[in-house]
Amino acid sequence: MTMKKRVLSGIRATGRLHLGNYFGMVKEMIKLQENPDLEVYFMVADLHAMTTPFEPKDLKQNIREVVLDYLACGLDPKKASLFVQSQVRAHIELSYLFSTEVTISRLFHLPTYKDKLKEGGTNTLALLYYPVLMASDILLYETEMLPVGDDQKPHLEIAREIARKFNEKYGMDFPQPKQLKTTNSYIPSLTGEGKMSKSVEGSFINLTDSLKEIEAKLAKVPTDSGKGGKRIKKTKRGPVTEYFEKDGEVSRGVGALLKLVELFEGSTAKREYEKLYQSEGIRYGDLKKHLAKAIYGELEPIQKKRKELEGDMDYVDKVIEDGAGKARKIAEETLLEVKKKMGLI
Ligand code: TRP
Repeated sequence: MTMKKRVLSGIRATGRLHLGNYFGMVKEMIKLQENPDLEVYFMVADLHAMTTPFEPKDLKQNIREVVLDYLACGLDPKKASLFVQSQVRAHIELSYLFSTEVTISRLFHLPTYKDKLKEGGTNTLALLYYPVLMASDILLYETEMLPVGDDQKPHLEIAREIARKFNEKYGMDFPQPKQLKTTNSYIPSLTGEGKMSKSVEGSFINLTDSLKEIEAKLAKVPTDSGKGGKRIKKTKRGPVTEYFEKDGEVSRGVGALLKLVELFEGSTAKREYEKLYQSEGIRYGDLKKHLAKAIYGELEPIQKKRKELEGDMDYVDKVIEDGAGKARKIAEETLLEVKKKMGLI
């Protein structure tokens, strides 16, 4: 029997999922669970949620929120596994063993760590340790492919380095995990600056937002006079269309809106708006109204499913328990092998 390739991804338990998580990871994973050659693992990264300030009672609720969102989006427990990171103790144990081969200076220089400090985060050991724990998440399951955003690439590199080290020094047989690039891994922020992110207020639409909430959030997206030009700009993550008014000022909010139009109403709708932008002008009130409807149209069935699940928490608890059981089995095997190879057993 040939071994199935494993795919794993995780989301920090810091609240409900938004459109960025949905397109960047969840939707992709839901597709992958249909592939019989793959074994797919959805993780709730609750230990990673503790690397930034948290409230105990919120953490407990946030773990549930991510579980419910995964299931409401279509994660099928018959085809994939869902587990909560802290319920599989091997994650912490293996990460400690890994830490013996990672230098502090290597971790100090990671952009993700520096960014968190710049945002005003506290310089805790847990924050510095983040990538070591993540390497453990990945390598415990001998994961080969991960649908994660470009911002996670430095973390993947650390996991690959650890895998190489342990293969050379201790004779392990870890694969070199690779990023699985998703087509829509970059969902722009509603503020027009950067990408949609839970830590930026006013930047995101949650999967649980009502039509009214979506309308109110779209109403705040900055726009322009409605008329201007467009050009393709090369960026690190590939070519991006920029919209600009007569004075040459880039209308970033317009770019964000048109990206959402493309995702929810199709590329034809986007092209029509682009034509209007370059001729008689876009009426943003109408655009936002249509777009809000289209977004809600896709989210409504997810929200319905979520309501059903909220009424059947016994089922949800059972899914998590089964998922942890399955994950533990594989994780324990890997951990045992590392402990033997390192001379602990
Ligand atoms: N660091 C990831 C993020 O912020 C979340 C995460 C934790 C993760 N452990 C993981 C993703 C393991 C993939 C695999 O998006």
